[in-house]
Amino acid sequence: MINGKKVLYSGMQATGNLTLGNYLGALKNWVTLNEEYECFYGVMDLHSLTVRQNPTEFRQRARALYILYVAAGLDPEKNCIYYQSHVSGHAELAWLLNCFTYMGELNRMTQFKDKSSKHADNINAGLYTYPVLMAADILLYQADVVPIGADQKQHLEITRDIAERFNSVYGDVFTVPEPFIGKKGARVMSLQDPAKKMSKSDENLNASIYLTDDRDTVIRKFKRAVTDSDSVVRYSEDKPGISNLMEIYSAASGKSYDEIEKEFDGKGYGDFKLAVGESVADILQPLQARVAELAKDKAYIDSMIKANDEKAQYFSTKTLRKVQKKLGLTERIR
Ligand code: TRP
Repeated sequence: MINGKKVLYSGMQATGNLTLGNYLGALKNWVTLNEEYECFYGVMDLHSLTVRQNPTEFRQRARALYILYVAAGLDPEKNCIYYQSHVSGHAELAWLLNCFTYMGELNRMTQFKDKSSKHADNINAGLYTYPVLMAADILLYQADVVPIGADQKQHLEITRDIAERFNSVYGDVFTVPEPFIGKKGARVMSLQDPAKKMSKSDENLNASIYLTDDRDTVIRKFKRAVTDSDSVVRYSEDKPGISNLMEIYSAASGKSYDEIEKEFDGKGYGDFKLAVGESVADILQPLQARVAELAKDKAYIDSMIKANDEKAQYFSTKTLRKVQKKLGLTERIR
C-alpha cells in the first residue's frame, strides 16, 4: 500500500514501433487506474537489451515511449512513469532473485523458447533470465496487481512462485501480485492473419497498424485486411477476420457489436473496412498531435522523468534494503 492505495505495476519494452494493439489493449485502459491504485509504469529498457539495439535509435525509442505514455493520457504527476535503467534496484534485485529461481522453471518459459528459436545466433543469458528481471520489477514496488496480456501470464506466475518461495524462508517480505482484472482491453489480432496477435515485430507491414501511421496508411491497411468469402458483418468464431475488425471498431468508436451489425446490415465489407479505418485514424490523429506537442516540450518531459525516477528510486530502495537485510548481507555504515 502506498498513500492508502493498492499498488499497480506495468510497463512496455522500448523496442519496435508500438501498435494499435498496444494502445487499445493496454495503454488506453491504464489512463483512469490511478484513481484507485498507486500506479507505476516503466519504460522497460533493460529488457530490450536481450536483443541487440542500435544505441542512437534505442535512446530515441525509449524517449518516444515515455512521451507516448504521457500523450495517451497517463498524467506523469499522478502516475510514476520512469525508466527502468535509471533505478539501480531492478538489476540488483534481479541478481538476488536469480538465486531463488530454478533453471527447470526458466526452461519451461514459452517466450524463451520462442525467442531463442527466432534469435538462434544470440541466445544470451539475459534472454534466459528475462522473467527474473520482470519479477524484480514487480516485487520491488510491492505491487498488488499487474495488468498484462495473455503472453505475459506465465511470467507473472513465475513472479508469484519466486515471491512465495522467498517469503516462505524469510517471512512476509514481498506482496504476491495478482493479474489485474479490470475492464478488459481489446484483443487486437494481425490484419493479415487473425489467428495471430498484432505484433510490433511482424515482418508483413500490412499486418499491423503502428501508432505513427498516417491516415492514408491506416485506411489502406484496413482496406487490405483479410476477411472471408461471405459478406455479412457479424461477430462469430468462424469469421476471425471480421470479428477482429469489429473488436477494433468497437474499441475505437465505443459502439457495441449489435450496433455495428445493424449499421452494416445489407452493406458490403468495403464500407465496413472504410469505417473501421476512419475510426482508427480518428483516434490516432489527436494522439500523434499530442506526441508532437510533448516532444517539443523538453523541459517538461525532463522534469517529469527526474521527479519520477526519484520516486521510483525511493520506493524500490525500501524493498531492496529489506531484502538485503533478510538475506544477511552486511548493512551499510552511515
Ligand atoms: N515483458 C513485458 C512485455 O514484453 C514488459 C515488462 C517488463 C513488464 N517488466 C514488466 C510488464 C513488469 C509488466 C510488469 O510485455
